[in-house]
Amino acid sequence: MEKADIGLIGLGTMGANLALNIAEKGFRIAVYNRTTERTHEFAAEAGPLAANIIPCDSLQALVDAIKPPRPIILMVPAGAPVDEQIAALDPLVARDDIIIDAGNANFRDTRRRMAELAETGPRFIGMGVSGGEEGARHGPSIMVGGPEDSYRRIEPVLEAIAARYEGEACQAWLGPDGAGHFVKTIHNGIEYADMQMIAEIYGILRDGYGLEARDIASIFARWNEGRLNSYLIEITAEVLDAIDPETGKPIVDEILDRAGQKGTGRWSAIEAQSLGVPATAIEAAVAARSLSAMKSEREAAEKRYGIPTSSAGAPSEQALASLEAALFAGKIVAYAQGFAVMAAASREFGWNLPLGTIARIWRAGCIIRSQFLGAIADAFDGAPETENLLMTPTFSQYMEAAHPHLRRVVAQSAEAGLPVPSLSAALAHFDTFRRGRGTANLIQAQRDFFGAHGFERIDREGSHHGAWKKD
Ligand code: 6PG
Repeated sequence: MEKADIGLIGLGTMGANLALNIAEKGFRIAVYNRTTERTHEFAAEAGPLAANIIPCDSLQALVDAIKPPRPIILMVPAGAPVDEQIAALDPLVARDDIIIDAGNANFRDTRRRMAELAETGPRFIGMGVSGGEEGARHGPSIMVGGPEDSYRRIEPVLEAIAARYEGEACQAWLGPDGAGHFVKTIHNGIEYADMQMIAEIYGILRDGYGLEARDIASIFARWNEGRLNSYLIEITAEVLDAIDPETGKPIVDEILDRAGQKGTGRWSAIEAQSLGVPATAIEAAVAARSLSAMKSEREAAEKRYGIPTSSAGAPSEQALASLEAALFAGKIVAYAQGFAVMAAASREFGWNLPLGTIARIWRAGCIIRSQFLGAIADAFDGAPETENLLMTPTFSQYMEAAHPHLRRVVAQSAEAGLPVPSLSAALAHFDTFRRGRGTANLIQAQRDFFGAHGFERIDREGSHHGAWKKD
């Protein structure tokens, strides 16, 4: 039997869809799943694509079924399962084979695994894949980190299976070791902020203006025709419009307001903090998910404090335009923060991350895909020395026009007692960032007062102390 070009371990939703995508593009793929029934069920359901699929009942059979040097994709849950699979594969594969972890790994694990395998093991690649089930099947966005020569060997497969934006494949080698998984983590951090800000605007429309889900759906659908055009806005309109067949009511009103999180958003916030880069819009989004999980505490607090009742009535066209612009401004800050975290990590780990390329491979396939990312790619390409989106000519113009709306929306929400944590974090970031003279002179004075930490002066070099009157 003709051997496979590539192997894949883990036939869960993402793995199965990725395998079908690979088979459909004309590559032969050997597949293995921990439970053998799943492997055979998968092959049986593959229809005509089964001709390109070799179902394997053991890891040894999988390894034997692939042409050396073998690329083997792992699509198993992040964490211990990845280490277990690597340990099981290590004795079976050759030095020249490549294990590709395509899950949502923590990039620190990817760095460790790569270092561990460097001595005696096979090659290793950490590959971020975004786009959910649909993306995996028909074209995800693929962010690769690891040795460039290993990437070049699998590039033809990635080029064939990735999403396309105006014909360009949304996949790229972004740098060595954990670069790919780091970029995927920040993608998810931005995804959290994007989703949270959309949810905050939904909250204003629902609780501030008293609109029904269906009416809010049509507002988002309209916005999706303009500069906010994106997958997340599009699906927001769709989910708000969907009816629960059991109750006949909008399904969104039947869903408990308690959000799950698997960790990548939190990792983004942690990495931003450890790099010393403000990513407050993302951090606020992560915190909002945690607060959402405290359902019973929130209900108790509502009983204790009450909530203001809204009397706003339906929003005017002008109010809607302000909400749209506020969302746009908030989004600019969140993306600026996410890209700044990547720029800092790039310096810290010596990755040389291509910010323009990252924006380009996010234009299609991934969850945050949007036309906005095309503008970001152009902004970074047009100003290669600039790492801060807020300082690029295009985005500074956008921000100049949009921030008064963000201000108005945040102020009115505060007055009305409507929570907008991510939007207000974005506004606070912008207002702090654009002020040349801040208030940290006072912080420095306090630090010097209680701890003799010293401060810089505005009128001369060096470290100085204040003549504090102390007992
Ligand atoms: C993607 C998604 C994907 C997934 C995350 C969401 O890019 O395809 O981000 O990775 O939906 O696991 O994670 P939470 O469960 O933390 O929301």
